[in-house]
Amino acid sequence: MDAGVAGKRKHFDTNEDASNRKKHQAENGGKKHTSIVFALKEEVGSLARALKLFEDHKVNMSHIESRPSKRSKTEYDFFVDCEELQGPKLEKFVDSLKVHALSITLHSDEGGESADVPWFPRKIADLDKFANRVLSYGSELDSDHPGFTDQVYRARRKQFADIAIKYKHGEPIPHVEYTKDEIKTWNLVFTELTKLYPTHACREHNYVWPLLAQNCGYRLDNIPQQDIVSKFLKECSGFSLRPVAGLLSSRDFLAGLAFRVFHATQYIRHGSTPMYTPEPDIVHELIGHVPLFADPDFAQFSQEIGLASLGAPDEWIEKLATLYWFTIEFGVCKQEGKDKAYGAGLLSSFGELQYCLTDEPDKRPFEPEKIVVQSYPITKYQPVYFVADSFQSAKEKVRECAAKIPRPFSVRYNPYTQSVEVLDSKDQIMKLANDIRGDVCTLHDALTKYE
Ligand SMILES: [Fe+2]
Repeated sequence: MDAGVAGKRKHFDTNEDASNRKKHQAENGGKKHTSIVFALKEEVGSLARALKLFEDHKVNMSHIESRPSKRSKTEYDFFVDCEELQGPKLEKFVDSLKVHALSITLHSDEGGESADVPWFPRKIADLDKFANRVLSYGSELDSDHPGFTDQVYRARRKQFADIAIKYKHGEPIPHVEYTKDEIKTWNLVFTELTKLYPTHACREHNYVWPLLAQNCGYRLDNIPQQDIVSKFLKECSGFSLRPVAGLLSSRDFLAGLAFRVFHATQYIRHGSTPMYTPEPDIVHELIGHVPLFADPDFAQFSQEIGLASLGAPDEWIEKLATLYWFTIEFGVCKQEGKDKAYGAGLLSSFGELQYCLTDEPDKRPFEPEKIVVQSYPITKYQPVYFVADSFQSAKEKVRECAAKIPRPFSVRYNPYTQSVEVLDSKDQIMKLANDIRGDVCTLHDALTKYE
């Protein structure tokens, strides 16, 4: 499981919202309207706090209604039609609403990007807006969680959740003093998994593994610090880690990948079940995910999925989350004629890592169109794996699949400004052409000298 994919959920019908907006605009004398549809966390007083923001920001509501959420029978989405709420005032208001809302979608009369396109982060600091939008909070464990009755463990989880919620982009990730018991749990899992890597892990994983020991303190008796690992990743592939309190929605989690940011938990599983965790923990993140994010081809492959998700319709978020599941979490690839594991869910599971390379599961070719509609279990070993020939070819196939996403613009990541550029105007496209021309000149110069 991951800090995002387990939180897969559907939102609302955007066509229905668009027709509601037009209806209320007609009823209100043709004033410019913005409709906001939002879902709230299930907390006492959350609706009152959200509605207070409308008053604080002097937003005039012309219509409000609630409707049962398609995610859960016990949740509701709120549709609010607002008059003359546009431009900077709208942006400021939405920023404050994000603190309380699980999801927000805007439908504006201004047209362009905001019309019927879900909000997405445009610059890396916008990821701060996700920090407290977790679907489950670190200390609020389910009744079947191994640590549910352990008050010490729950208090510890609260400490980790607080670190993540307070964290802002650009700050150093706080160091954590892990306890003897936590290190013992790490030691047990680390010992078992490392026995399998030489024969079961892909070559990219095995290449970077000793480098993590040399540079980041990957040892039996030490749980590495997230900020040290993050700096190492940055130098290898431009990826970085960011602490997260719990499960994010698929949309938020995938958006992080667009910026080469991986939301990672810092807590460790409960000591009573060292070989099992119902949610992603630091073992899963640092042992399962990090080695592959250090590989430039894999990093680019992961970013492609993230970029495809920005502003995508809900049904495509579901598809991309499924693609993520069968690759970054449970991916198998063919190397020197043999199947090898590259998915973090496999590389951090002693049992499934062995099982996935046997003849028992169904191994299918890597075809994104088929992957995105494949169902899968989340509580037992996968019955189906899709086998990639290489990250390079998988990336190309994902690009072809992502081109089918109905989105009125293309996006491009600008690593210099760490921002996403929306290519929806002649100026933006010309700028891209100029940048490519510069790269082509550099390539031509290099080829000339190489000869
Ligand atoms: Fe994961």
